[in-house]
Amino acid sequence: MVPRGLERLRGTDDPHHAERFLHTLLLPKTRTEQRLASAEALSPTPSITEQWRDSRYAKVETSISRDDVEQAVGVFRDFLALPAETKVSISIPGPQGRGKGSLGYVERTPETDANETALGKDPEHKEYFHYHPSVEAQLPEEIRRAGGAAEKLIAQLRALWIEMEAVAYRTIVALEAEHAGDPRYEGLTNRFFPDGITRGEPGLRHPKLTLRLMIYKKVDAEKLAANGHYDAGAFAFAVCESAPGLMVGTQAVKDETGAVTTPEALTPVERPDGTALFWPGTGFKNIDPTIPPTWHAVKQHTKDEVKLGEENRWVLVAFLNEFEEPGAPTIAETHGLRA
Ligand SMILES: [Fe+2]
Repeated sequence: MVPRGLERLRGTDDPHHAERFLHTLLLPKTRTEQRLASAEALSPTPSITEQWRDSRYAKVETSISRDDVEQAVGVFRDFLALPAETKVSISIPGPQGRGKGSLGYVERTPETDANETALGKDPEHKEYFHYHPSVEAQLPEEIRRAGGAAEKLIAQLRALWIEMEAVAYRTIVALEAEHAGDPRYEGLTNRFFPDGITRGEPGLRHPKLTLRLMIYKKVDAEKLAANGHYDAGAFAFAVCESAPGLMVGTQAVKDETGAVTTPEALTPVERPDGTALFWPGTGFKNIDPTIPPTWHAVKQHTKDEVKLGEENRWVLVAFLNEFEEPGAPTIAETHGLRA
């Protein structure tokens, strides 16, 4: 039977699939004509910018279903059951070591985030995997040695990454088209997806799109699952989550005159299946400082029966940042991920 949808990309029965995938991405890709031809058809109504101003997030279509993500979560649970040293072996440290800026596997606990806890934030315990093609390009031996659970996880995340890369591309094209004539947005798509980009050269010239598949553990009966925060990169996509609970709003900030703005109340968000929520992170100010980043938090009410230390919630998020030429800081240094 011919595999359909994401099955086509997972290729879990094919030991050479990863190799072939990376090879196909070595083909140069020129996108200018494609972009100009399709820009108008891609812009949603209301526009992304109008949705941001009205509700702090825009809804964008994805081809990723809840079933797709649940499969990946199932494989991630198998991976998390591996010994700690095996999990940590699939990790590319970021500027602060094996912490929140790393690619691959990361665990954050109240102990590893003691600084944030000291600042009055609620303690969080979470394990996540940051997938970018450079992980499998740079750590092929480590992934093979870690065994089937690691290989399956990589295959699942690769398939989701390919789908999200297309979604992210279409979204940035639409955002640029909405601002035609505004010099701040001129060439926006090219800043994230340069014409002629060689997608697939290990660790160097992929779009800076990183998937985060994350499982939260319950640390307190009453507290938020995630404290209020901005995402640190240019853009984020909330792709799928185990249960409602995401809320968006604004944080009180000082304007240019020093006046403190009144924060918007955090409002619960609904995300229909097949839709990702797209919003600006703090890095967006380098593109358009008139649109604030989206402040968000998570509080869910449906898993009160979960015991402390057990899985409380899972989420799939994608972060997108501007492409930089080889020689510039690596993705792990600049993708500005946090949660
Ligand atoms: Fe976030």
